[in-house]
Amino acid sequence: MTTEYEDVGEYSTEPSRDGRIKLHGPDGFEGMRKAGHLAASVLDMLAEHVQPGTTTAYLDDLTREFVFAHGATPATLYYRGYRHSLCTSINHVVCHGIPGPKPLKNGDIVNIDVTVVVDGWHGDTSRMFIVGEPRRKAELLIDTTYEAMMAGIHAIKPGVTLGTIGAIIQEYAEERRCSIVRDFCGHGLGRLFHDSPNVLHFGERGEGPELKPGMFFTVEPMLNLGRPDVKVLADGWTAVTRDKSLSAQFEHSVGVTEDGVEIFTQSPKGLHKPPYAL
Ligand code: MF3
Ligand code: CO
Ligand code: CO
Repeated sequence: MTTEYEDVGEYSTEPSRDGRIKLHGPDGFEGMRKAGHLAASVLDMLAEHVQPGTTTAYLDDLTREFVFAHGATPATLYYRGYRHSLCTSINHVVCHGIPGPKPLKNGDIVNIDVTVVVDGWHGDTSRMFIVGEPRRKAELLIDTTYEAMMAGIHAIKPGVTLGTIGAIIQEYAEERRCSIVRDFCGHGLGRLFHDSPNVLHFGERGEGPELKPGMFFTVEPMLNLGRPDVKVLADGWTAVTRDKSLSAQFEHSVGVTEDGVEIFTQSPKGLHKPPYAL
């Protein structure tokens, strides 16, 4: 398979859904820095509110107001019929959990995933939060998921292929007896929310498209304590583990630089992974 690239230079780009991978210039990096910063600031803002008794609907309200107050838009609001500003995926929910009126309880683990649009650029990021007192197995899963994502991200530089990134994430997870969800992947983003390429969190070294400076995409592995299989509930969104085992996910939006990688969604408050010292 050959990969085609599209140099969009310093200028904004027309969406292309034809499988070509966009290569952005300095304006794109500037736009993604702002979008990524706001997305990460949402998660920082939410951290103190993730407590037993809080509802995820309340976290959604806080987020919508915060994002609009910053002159930006939640990308998921009215996206393909989705009506919320966040996804909140609790315990065995793998991803795309819908915020609702059920209060969080002590010992829950929850992934909060937010995407914002700032001046047309998308910042997409998620983190795990622990409600109240952590359970040991959940802590290990969360730590492994974060480190798997970061191992993949730190290997990003021009010339490396996406298959290598996926293989590094998969090896990190499986060496620690966690499984990698196959049904969802990372994605190119920029002026589009979901663009080429697909970023699989498993794979073979040396396979897949080669990374080039100016590519923007997410790395967002989902790891399960049990089997990797998932199913989507009747609401059409909520993905859960078939065996009801705990699932965790982290997500960063990144750009490939001349000699490595820039993470656009670093936490301004340094709240990268739990336990968060607030
Ligand atoms: N933020 C998710 C991602 O990482 C997408 C959520 S789409 C929604 O790609 F509609 F479920 F919100
Ligand atoms: Co994403
Ligand atoms: Co996301």
